[in-house]
Amino acid sequence: MTDKTWRVGLAGLGTVGAGLVRLLGEDPHFAPAGARVEITGVSARRRNAAREADVSALPWFDDPVELAKDPGNDIFVELIGGSEGVARVAVEAALAAGKPVVTANKALIASHGVELAAMAEAKGVPLLFEAAVMGGTPAVKFVREALVGDEIGAVAGILNGTSNFILSQMESTGQAFAQVLAEAQRLGYAEADPTTDIGGFDAAHKIAILAALAFDCAPTLEAVEIEGIEDVSLLDIRLARDLGYRIKQLAMATHTPSGAWVRVHPALLPLDHPLAQADGALNALFIEGRRIGRMFIQGAGAGAGPTATAVAADIADIMAGARRPVFQRAASQLLARAPVTAHGALEKVYLRLIVRDEPGVIAAVSETLAEAGVSIDSFLQKHVDEGPGVPMVLTTHPAPSSAISAAIERIGLLPALMAPPRRMPVARI
Ligand SMILES: NC(=O)c1ccc[n+]([C@@H]2O[C@H](COP(=O)([O-])OP(=O)(O)OC[C@H]3O[C@@H](n4cnc5c(N)ncnc54)[C@H](OP(=O)(O)O)[C@@H]3O)[C@@H](O)[C@H]2O)c1
Repeated sequence: MTDKTWRVGLAGLGTVGAGLVRLLGEDPHFAPAGARVEITGVSARRRNAAREADVSALPWFDDPVELAKDPGNDIFVELIGGSEGVARVAVEAALAAGKPVVTANKALIASHGVELAAMAEAKGVPLLFEAAVMGGTPAVKFVREALVGDEIGAVAGILNGTSNFILSQMESTGQAFAQVLAEAQRLGYAEADPTTDIGGFDAAHKIAILAALAFDCAPTLEAVEIEGIEDVSLLDIRLARDLGYRIKQLAMATHTPSGAWVRVHPALLPLDHPLAQADGALNALFIEGRRIGRMFIQGAGAGAGPTATAVAADIADIMAGARRPVFQRAASQLLARAPVTAHGALEKVYLRLIVRDEPGVIAAVSETLAEAGVSIDSFLQKHVDEGPGVPMVLTTHPAPSSAISAAIERIGLLPALMAPPRRMPVARI
């Protein structure tokens, strides 16, 4: 390996692609034992676009698929994005040509990871995607490699920097969601169309991948329960804080006897929980393993430099002769272990009601919960200036989620209710 020059074909010259060009330009010998990396072809949509890196001297390919197949490179790096279209076709073409592939494309791996893993296995080549989850902070290698000797019980993370930024800003400035989103768009923290981030879909791609690695199942986006942060109100942020919690967009995968339960939703975390401390655009990951106990990592989840670093780490693994399965098992074994929806699982919830200020309401709510076998952990009723009615907020002890749902449905019918009940899970990690 020592003196070999590894020839890289790079498709995608946007934020991450340009970051990688700069990184390789600054340090082509970054890999172990001094092997060298050289970019031998680049491709993007617009040949003459102004870019964050100088690619004028690099061979240009109009078609990323031609670059993927080109025998002039040893490794194909896909930094275009999207689960379908040219990114997918190019990755398939590179694997079919027996070429190692590195990608940062969470949508592609979450949607087609198993088929692509099967193709990579058939050709005996690596398919690596460290940058797809938490950008520059090593989450994939952490779960797939460092913790392979453990049995993971839960993986929970703040995996979308935009949502985390918005919720953090709402809490610190007291501004409502729409105002903070507009500011985040102005500052470039949120896309013009923010649906993928605030709707929970970006985090869903990432937790589907982590769940597959942690629980030996196929990454299955369709099995992820997803709720966005659009309906998180300032009122809930304040009331949760009064109860000792902070609201975060939490992506979580839990081991259950029937499979992995995977979801993304706004959730309450105790103020002293490490995940509650990750503010701004940071990403963070919390893991519970049977042997290792509780672990926590935090860092940059996006950006040119951090994400290019993760891509470079994958290139270095290929240079060092990486020979791991793409996930934890052969692709054919993964398919039999699909994630599940755990309707009967125990859940602790936050319930916020807006009620008429009249006697008997507290008793009616607590009786309805008690009849369903759900007991109350904490309770708060607070007069606020805004809007009609009085907010009444409580957290439950863990109870079957089906029992909680049934009780909330009945509470929603109480005559004193002035708005539909708002329910959010309280994280139990
Ligand atoms: N940005 C981050 O911080 C980050 C973090 C982690 C993972 N990722 C992942 O990394 C990948 C790249 O993200 P990015 O932020 O760098 O995206 P980006 O800035 O939008 O860049 C995308 C690149 O792909 C090129 N492209 C788009 N459609 C193409 C087509 N049909 N044919 C050829 N080239 C095409 C674009 O060409 P033009 O430049 O000519 O338009 C552009 O160079 C995505 O999978 C993303 O999810 C990004």
